[in-house]
Amino acid sequence: MTRALRPVGVVGLGHFVPPRIVTNQELESTLDTTDEWIRSRTGIHERRMAESDVCASDLAVEASLLALADAGVSPEQLGLIIVGTMTPDTMLPSTACLVQHRLGATNAGAFDLNVACSGFAYSMAVGCQFVRTGAFDYVLVVGADTMTRVMNWKDRGTCVLFGDGAGAVVLGPAGEGQGVLSIHLGADGSGGDSLCVPAGGGRTPGGTPGVPKSEFCLQMHGKEVFKFAVSVIGEAAAAAVSKAGLTPDDVDLFIPHQANVRIIDAAARRLGVPMERVFVNVDRFGNTSCGSIPLALSEAREQGRVKEGDLIVLVGFGGGLSWGAVAMRWGKKEALCPA
Ligand code: ACO
Repeated sequence: MTRALRPVGVVGLGHFVPPRIVTNQELESTLDTTDEWIRSRTGIHERRMAESDVCASDLAVEASLLALADAGVSPEQLGLIIVGTMTPDTMLPSTACLVQHRLGATNAGAFDLNVACSGFAYSMAVGCQFVRTGAFDYVLVVGADTMTRVMNWKDRGTCVLFGDGAGAVVLGPAGEGQGVLSIHLGADGSGGDSLCVPAGGGRTPGGTPGVPKSEFCLQMHGKEVFKFAVSVIGEAAAAAVSKAGLTPDDVDLFIPHQANVRIIDAAARRLGVPMERVFVNVDRFGNTSCGSIPLALSEAREQGRVKEGDLIVLVGFGGGLSWGAVAMRWGKKEALCPA
């Protein structure tokens, strides 16, 4: 039996960050940096840091419980769980399977998706397909990272930028003309070296003699990434709105990956969207990688900045290099028709 494609949208959302706040002033005591340098170059004032026994799955479970409660969906109703993360608890099992077990989502498949900071946009793009086709009614999509675990705390140009956090959305059937309108994904592997964790995979496994600890940490060519980010955010957002038959003028709220306020500002200017229509919380959380977009979306909704009928554009970018944009019309949850 063939089934018509159905609209899919966000029917619940939540976020969670660890309680410990690390201010720029605190970093001044261990690093050759200043609050002034970090604020003026990045817009970041503070970030969150998970305790050493707290991993991506722990943050993901907390965010997911809030998203499920918000959606009014039980764990048993989930058909699939996708966790976007570049800092999984372990190489195996996947973080998504840990989340599936802890939630008691006994009817759900589960897998991780690693596309660095684009992971949430990609995970949402994948998750949407299953609801749209009717394969599953509800899909849980989580972005969760403990980036402070993969920092080289001697690399002042990188370690001041990142923090830990998670956000989750429940995807489900949406009303006609609502929910996800378009998706745009892209990648350029030729730029892989500008954001990488060189060791810890198959090429240089842990325990390889003579490999410095810094090779297991995130390495970044900041200036290259900055230029890439400014151009790709605008291009990806423009591509997504154009695929939806709309223009940047129609965007009510633009939620880019929260990496650096200067990047966000420059990208918004290129796109022609004024900063009043851009959501920013990088000042309080730093770059939480896959957690960043759902954390921002969830906070934006809490602050009353997401309204019925709004056109919202999410844009992720990051290692790979990779990018992804999702344009969606915010709307009420649709009552499920019997299968
Ligand atoms: N405190 C004080 N000084 C610093 C610090 C610091 N924390 N970090 C670097 N500096 C110094 C540098 O050593 C350099 O000194 P020098 O001129 O004596 O050599 C000077 O400040 C300028 O450094 P730049 O690297 O030129 O600074 P820039 O203006 O490019 O800003 C930054 C650096 C903030 C990293 C910027 O390039 C940036 O934001 N890049 C994008 C990063 C990003 O978005 N990454 C996330 C990608 S998403 C993912 O997938 C993980």
